[in-house]
Amino acid sequence: MTQFKIAPSILSADYANFESELKRLEAAGADYAHIDVMDGHFVPNITFGAGVVASMRPHSKLVFDCHLMVTNPEKHIEEFVRAGADIITIHVEATPHIHGALQQIRAAGVKAGVVINPGTPVQAIKHVLGLVDQVLVMTVNPGFGGQAFLPETLVKVSELASLREQEHLQFDIEVDGGIDNQTIKKAKAAGANVFVAGSYVFKGDVDHQVQTLREALHD
Ligand code: DX5
Ligand code: ZN
Repeated sequence: MTQFKIAPSILSADYANFESELKRLEAAGADYAHIDVMDGHFVPNITFGAGVVASMRPHSKLVFDCHLMVTNPEKHIEEFVRAGADIITIHVEATPHIHGALQQIRAAGVKAGVVINPGTPVQAIKHVLGLVDQVLVMTVNPGFGGQAFLPETLVKVSELASLREQEHLQFDIEVDGGIDNQTIKKAKAAGANVFVAGSYVFKGDVDHQVQTLREALHD
């Protein structure tokens, strides 16, 4: 049976109060804390690094789902593992060494994920699908929260779900960007099972927002 997971993104949280923000997410029944690491190079924005992840780690039991929007992510894997990441997801567009970098993540003892931007075809990751625990399909262009969901990206979610079946592979399919209680239904119908939501979760009462996402999955 498919396991659905809600992964609120702390990109939209209060950066001065990560401890209490994580507690709110845990109390709301979130599955993951999605942590958006941006370097001002691969994407225009700069957010937080491994030091912040390490500071948050003792305050939360949530799965730390680290989405690295950084150039040459292979240089940073070790520090995020040491900081307490549970899943490290890296962009195929950010390194010429995606295969080796994914091997490096798994060898370090954490789950590996690969992510594709809206303009990147599934073909670009076809040969590494056996090395990953999670594939993230960006449903907006990475870099900022609060952007509009791009429905045309969902064809790639369906493509990945079919490939997974054909090739007898096992990985979660995560979507990220513009997810709310309506778009989550479309992403689920396409075959996604992990849903990142930033602005939708933090724009109101966190408990209520997470609950409405979960309810939308069971409509
Ligand atoms: C965007 C980030 C997302 C972001 C999503 O580059 O990867 O995780 O937090 O934000 P919303 O849900 O507001 O689109
Ligand atoms: Zn993200």
